Amino acid sequence: MGQLIGLKKVKTAVFISGSGSNLKSLIHFSKKKNSRISIDLIISDNRNAKGLRFGKMFKIPHKILNYKSKLVAEKKIISEINDKKIELICLAGFMRVLSKNFLKSYKGKILNIHPSLLPKYKGLNTHQRAISNNEKYSGCTVHFVNSKLDSGKIILQKKVKISNRETVKSLAKKILIQEHKLYPKAIKKLLNR
Ligand code: GRF
Repeated sequence: MGQLIGLKKVKTAVFISGSGSNLKSLIHFSKKKNSRISIDLIISDNRNAKGLRFGKMFKIPHKILNYKSKLVAEKKIISEINDKKIELICLAGFMRVLSKNFLKSYKGKILNIHPSLLPKYKGLNTHQRAISNNEKYSGCTVHFVNSKLDSGKIILQKKVKISNRETVKSLAKKILIQEHKLYPKAIKKLLNR
């Protein structure tokens, strides 16, 4: 992968495991005039991921990986990424931890979105934990991916207020709306420097 800052559109792969609403928002962002990215590949570890439908809808190639062996799966991903000359990887609800070896190959080129105000609430069940701890705010974070879970350098965050009657479902919904705005914003920040 070369430099991210330049004039040509940055070829981007989005990795998903589930509903793919962030993938959808990134596709819309990529289609905007002056957008600095094109989405050229979708990777999923789950053949039933609902988000794969957006790939079909927008005619973006996708690859579904069998993760019985992480090593084999990642080898296939690397080959796809090299074939398509991918320069930026956006994890969007991808439920696998990438190996150190994989991360090393794409250092500084892999982003993730997480539904909390990192460094608080890394990992799963973020909304439940934030509500149980009587937090006044939660939110979402776009960060670089490193070898520690949800711990890479933060690019952007958005705060969301937790109301008195908040449920996991209502909070997840509110935060997801902000995620769809934050991911494109973070990419802009990264590429337009
Ligand atoms: C999002 O909340 C994201 O922050 C987390 O997983 C969820 C994915 O949602 N990592 P979607 O598949 O993009 O709808």
